[in-house]
Amino acid sequence: MSAGPREPFENPVIEWFDSRLPIFTMMQKEYGVFPTPKNFNYFWSFGGIAMTMLILMIVTGIFLAMNYTPQENMAFDSVEHIMRDVNYGWMLRYLHMNGASFFFIAVYTHIFRGMYYGSYKKPRELLWILGVIIFLLMMATAFMGYTLPWSQMGGWAATVITNLFSAIPFVGDSIVTLLLGGFAVGNPTLNRFFALHYLLPFVIVGIVFVHVWALHVTGSNNPLGIDVKGPQDTLAFSPYYTAKDMFGLAVFMLAYIAVTFFAPNMLAHPDHYIQYNALQTPAHIVPEWYFLPFYAMLRGITFGFNLYILAGIGIIGAALWPVYTKGKALKDPLLGMTIIPAVTDFGQYSKKFFTMLAIAGVVFMLGYFSQTMGLPLPFSKWVLLDSKLGGVIAMFGSIAILFVMPWLDSHPVRSARFRPQFKVAVLAMTASVAILGYIGAQTADAMLFGVIQWVYIGQILTGYYFAFFVIILPWLSVTEKASPMPNSINEAVLQENARKAGAR
Ligand code: HEM
Repeated sequence: MSAGPREPFENPVIEWFDSRLPIFTMMQKEYGVFPTPKNFNYFWSFGGIAMTMLILMIVTGIFLAMNYTPQENMAFDSVEHIMRDVNYGWMLRYLHMNGASFFFIAVYTHIFRGMYYGSYKKPRELLWILGVIIFLLMMATAFMGYTLPWSQMGGWAATVITNLFSAIPFVGDSIVTLLLGGFAVGNPTLNRFFALHYLLPFVIVGIVFVHVWALHVTGSNNPLGIDVKGPQDTLAFSPYYTAKDMFGLAVFMLAYIAVTFFAPNMLAHPDHYIQYNALQTPAHIVPEWYFLPFYAMLRGITFGFNLYILAGIGIIGAALWPVYTKGKALKDPLLGMTIIPAVTDFGQYSKKFFTMLAIAGVVFMLGYFSQTMGLPLPFSKWVLLDSKLGGVIAMFGSIAILFVMPWLDSHPVRSARFRPQFKVAVLAMTASVAILGYIGAQTADAMLFGVIQWVYIGQILTGYYFAFFVIILPWLSVTEKASPMPNSINEAVLQENARKAGAR
């Protein structure tokens, strides 16, 4: 593969090895002298932190598997045996259990960093897409892992989530049977979940390898979002960023170790310590915290999509057509008639755009009230998408939409630092996801201050989440005026240093 020119190493053993398989040359090139923007903040440590957590999860998982039994009558007891009898079994299990949470904390921070600083944009689209695939695989792995201790919460979470697939028309029920290995959660479910829970982390390792490979082709983005112009903008990855990343990792590990050893069940549910009973449903089935925002979106769709709601969505699509196509007209393919005229000036178009959005909002709300409060409207009972399928589409769609984020946001400026409107929108989206997480943990009928049901707030926030991607990003792409940017990374770093020196 890498048979190019190489510098000989002084150490004879390394030189012998490297001249036959240039692994040390590759490491030196990719992680030693690799030119890296000189203005990284600690957000850039989270890829390395995620990688460390992935390795830690695999190592603790393998040792747990040595003492675990994937059989429905023995799984729960085998976990208790690990906790009580196996030497340091309690430690392995708590490290693995809390490790999953901290892995998600690292990856959520990593995703937020990518969004805020526009790392998903050209030329890093493929790197981003690989990241979204990793995220999906992580979710599948964590979900299946939660079933393995064969607890009330794990078993019933598996029942709820696998049953969602039954909402898919025609093939849904067959898919559920295939996933479960039967008609309900049972021994075949446990066996296949164990097999896949063991396999998928290694698939993730493979994709992380390609993810980092793609990163090393384009080079890293940075907090300013501007391209590296020359050597004056970069530092060698090692020792500068190996040292910085080690410090970031150490702080993160302190938090992880503190929770694991001092509050190991802080993020767990008491029902996770009761053996699974297929005949007794727990009072409240809640997923792990990292799934809660998506769970809230699933439960938030309490209404079917009738003609009004679909018409509202259609009007939004029509309003966005010129935005998506950067001004092109939409012609009827048969008659050649112009349906939506070309747009040359989005400033002028904005009035029309917001009027159409307002009409869409009214039509949508009419459909919504006819579904939820029985507002009598003609044809409002014609539901093309029921609430269950709608919820499932919202839940999976909220992640699937990330795949196309690089194309929804085509603004030439990457970093939110120079995009005041995008900054507000992306922070509001992040806050919405956090609040949705809170809502996902509430019971379905819980109220805020006894005034309004949380589920309604969840619906508004879910609406904003999708509006952020489908409406706000494309609109800002053509209208937002960026604030002035520095000419180079080096110039910005020197200015920042001078400012700090002046402040001292
Ligand atoms: C197992 C999970 C993951 C691991 C181990 C991982 C690893 C890494 C590493 C080591 C880097 C370089 C260091 C850094 O920029 O932080 C990186 C960069 C990046 N990752 Fe990930 N990643 C993971 C998941 C994801 C996910 C879920 C996404 C997005 C959905 C993502 C998107 C990106 C992007 C866009 C970059 C480039 C950042 C930049 O240059 O500014 N990654 N990743």
